[in-house]
Amino acid sequence: EKGGYDWFMLKEIAEQPQAVADTLLGRLGPAGELVLDEVRLSDQELRDVDKIFVVACGTAYHAGMIAKYAIEHWTRIPVEVELASEFRYRDPVLDRSTLVIVISQSGETMDTLMALRHAKEQKARILAICNANGSTIPRESDAVLYTHAGPEVAVASTKGFLTQVVACYLVGLFLAQVRGVKYADEVGAIVENLRKLPEHIATVLDEMEPVRELARNLADENTLLFLGRHVGFPVALEGALKLKELAYIHAEGFAAGELKHGSIALIDQGTPVVVVVPSPVSRGSVHGKVVSNIQEVRARGARTIVIAEDGDDDVVPYADHLIRVPRTPTLLAPVVTTVPLQVLACEIASARGLDVDQPRNLAKSVTVE
Ligand code: BG6
Repeated sequence: EKGGYDWFMLKEIAEQPQAVADTLLGRLGPAGELVLDEVRLSDQELRDVDKIFVVACGTAYHAGMIAKYAIEHWTRIPVEVELASEFRYRDPVLDRSTLVIVISQSGETMDTLMALRHAKEQKARILAICNANGSTIPRESDAVLYTHAGPEVAVASTKGFLTQVVACYLVGLFLAQVRGVKYADEVGAIVENLRKLPEHIATVLDEMEPVRELARNLADENTLLFLGRHVGFPVALEGALKLKELAYIHAEGFAAGELKHGSIALIDQGTPVVVVVPSPVSRGSVHGKVVSNIQEVRARGARTIVIAEDGDDDVVPYADHLIRVPRTPTLLAPVVTTVPLQVLACEIASARGLDVDQPRNLAKSVTVE
C-alpha cells in the first residue's frame, strides 16, 4: 500500500503534483475566474468582510502564515494569523464582518475546533480549509473548501500542507474577485501560474538525488538553522518543524532579517544553515538582502544550503550546497521551495534509522486541547 516507497511520507511527497492539481480541479474557469460554488457565503457576506483571522496548528499554521501574505496583498483586507491554542484565550475582537479561516488537514484537531467554536459564538463567519471529508471542523463551519489531497497517513504533513497553501490562494483570489479586483493583471498572471504548480513540483522531485546525498551527510548534525524572508519565512519554519518532528534534531527557523538582531550568535564553525532565497524579481528587493545574509553566516563559518530559483546566479559564490527550484511568482514560491525541505527531513530521519511515518510522541490528529 506504500506503492513501492519505503515510507508513506515518501509516497505522499511524490503524490504532491497530483494532489495540488486536484485542489485546483474545477476551481479555475477558462477565463481565469475562480469558481468556488461550494463556499456557501453570499457575495454580500464576502464583501462585508473587514478583517480575516487564519487559525490553525502545527504545519497548518505555517500554511496560514503564507495565506496572510497572499490574501492581504490581493484583497487589501487585514489578515491576522494565530495559533489555535492561543486564539480564544486572548479575547480576540470578532464580529459579523470577521471571516475566520480555520485550516486543518484532519478536521479533528481539538485546539482548532475550540477556536472555531469561540469565533462562531462571537458571530464571525467561518470558512474551513480541510482535507478529511465530513470531519468535525467542516461540519461546524459556515463554508468549507476541501483540499482533495487524498488520505495522508504519515504523521508529518506534506501533501496536506501544499494543498492547504494552494487552497488559501484560491480563497484569496476568490475574495479579490468578489470584491472587485485591485490587481486585475497580476491576478490573471497568478491564475496562469497556479496551473503550472503541479509541473513545477514534479520538476523539483525529479532532481532530489543531491538532496538525498546531502541528507546522508547531515544525519549526525545536532542543530540545523533555517532562514527565510517574506513567504520564505514560513517555509523556513516548516522546514525546521519537519526536521524536529522526523529526525529529532534541534532545528529553528528564523526570519532572515532578524539574524542580525540575535540569532547570528548561534552560527559557529560548520553550523548547517538552510536559506530559502526569494526570487530575484521579488518586490522590495529582499533578494539582495537574503543573499547578504548568506554571505554573513558563511563568513562566520556556516555551511550553507541554499534553495534558489533557476537562473539566480547571485547565490552561487556563497552556496556550499545549491538546490534549484523552477521560477515561480514570489507569493506562490512556497509550493515549490517547501518540497526539498520535506525530502531533506525525511531522508535525514531515514539515515538516522528512525520511523519516518510514526515519529515518537506524535499523533496524526490531536483530539485533546
Ligand atoms: C499535529 C500533527 O498534532 O497537528 C501535525 O502532528 C499537524 O502534523 C497538526 O500539522 C495540525 O493538524 P491538522 O489535522 O489540524 O492539520
